[in-house]
Amino acid sequence: MEKYILIIGACGQIGTELTMTLRKKYGNDYVIASDIREGNETLMNSGPFEILDATDSNALEEIIAYYKISEIYLMAAMLSATAEKFPMRAWNLNMNSLFNVLNLAKEKKVDKIFWPSSIAVFGPNTPKEATPQNTIMEPSTVYGISKQSGERWCEYYFKKFDVDVRSIRYPGLISWKTMPGGGTTDYAVEIYHKALEEGTYNCFLKKDTVLPMMYMDDAIKATLQIMEADADDIKVRSSYNLAAMSFKPEDIAKSIQQHIPDFTITYEPDFRQAIADSWPSSIDDSDARADWGWKADFDMENTTSTMLKNLKMIKA
Ligand SMILES: NC(=O)c1ccc[n+]([C@@H]2O[C@H](COP(=O)([O-])OP(=O)(O)OC[C@H]3O[C@@H](n4cnc5c(N)ncnc54)[C@H](O)[C@@H]3O)[C@@H](O)[C@H]2O)c1
Repeated sequence: MEKYILIIGACGQIGTELTMTLRKKYGNDYVIASDIREGNETLMNSGPFEILDATDSNALEEIIAYYKISEIYLMAAMLSATAEKFPMRAWNLNMNSLFNVLNLAKEKKVDKIFWPSSIAVFGPNTPKEATPQNTIMEPSTVYGISKQSGERWCEYYFKKFDVDVRSIRYPGLISWKTMPGGGTTDYAVEIYHKALEEGTYNCFLKKDTVLPMMYMDDAIKATLQIMEADADDIKVRSSYNLAAMSFKPEDIAKSIQQHIPDFTITYEPDFRQAIADSWPSSIDDSDARADWGWKADFDMENTTSTMLKNLKMIKA
């Protein structure tokens, strides 16, 4: 049966690629992109687009009714580094947008929701290595607090109101089509741009800060996979741990030097170092593997070669 899908926050780093992938799979006219701003040319020219503020429940409801939407991907949020600067704005956006879609599903106006969480739900007291699915969390950032609260609400709406909401704790995401939107792992995208443009990069994290990361294609694959899985197979209704690779800035610099031998890196940690220090360095994603067959394709080496190849092409 034909279904109409709404992406909220479609013009961001993940939303752009998610929208294009869903349009390819389900047909351009069936995937409605929305955001508070316009996106890149490819996105804007490939299918329906609506300006929508995710915190405006009436506007959201109108769009749901107009397009007969049955699935929502809620990608709008304020990310970790920006949220530390605007705590209340971050809380309002991250929580109210989620309540708006959860309530629509509670009222049976949509059938299924995807809402992303993050490794930011973990905090300084969490075991750092192979962080388990269920463990001490205690996030210490505004963003992490909003994501953990969001997870609790997702599980609550599933249990109380039978809302089919599915979620993944994305690690830091690396991509070349869209720039990242104000997170603590943004260095792992900026470094490739600077390597090609200037041959050098001044990193805002220390050289030995190990963080969990993932190439965008894997993140999109996981998102589609969890949304297509049988509802009975989705045993975790808060959010699933998800992993692909872990590395430190020094490692990624070395992998770039394999392709650009003269590349140099310097380190000048700023306020984002404290955020990174509170997060895990690696993630145990065995539940996602067991429940819906998750497996990553990209490691650091093929992420680096894919990033450099594509960025070289678009910068030429
Ligand atoms: N990128 C990552 O590394 C990463 C990691 C973990 C989790 N996530 C989560 O994935 C989701 C998407 O992240 P992203 O990296 O694409 O973020 P992004 O900042 O690149 O994109 C967010 C989009 O939301 C839009 N937006 C902001 N306020 C809005 C509003 N009021 N109404 C509608 N749209 C609004 C922005 O214009 C932007 O296009 C977020 O929930 C984020 O927390 C991202």
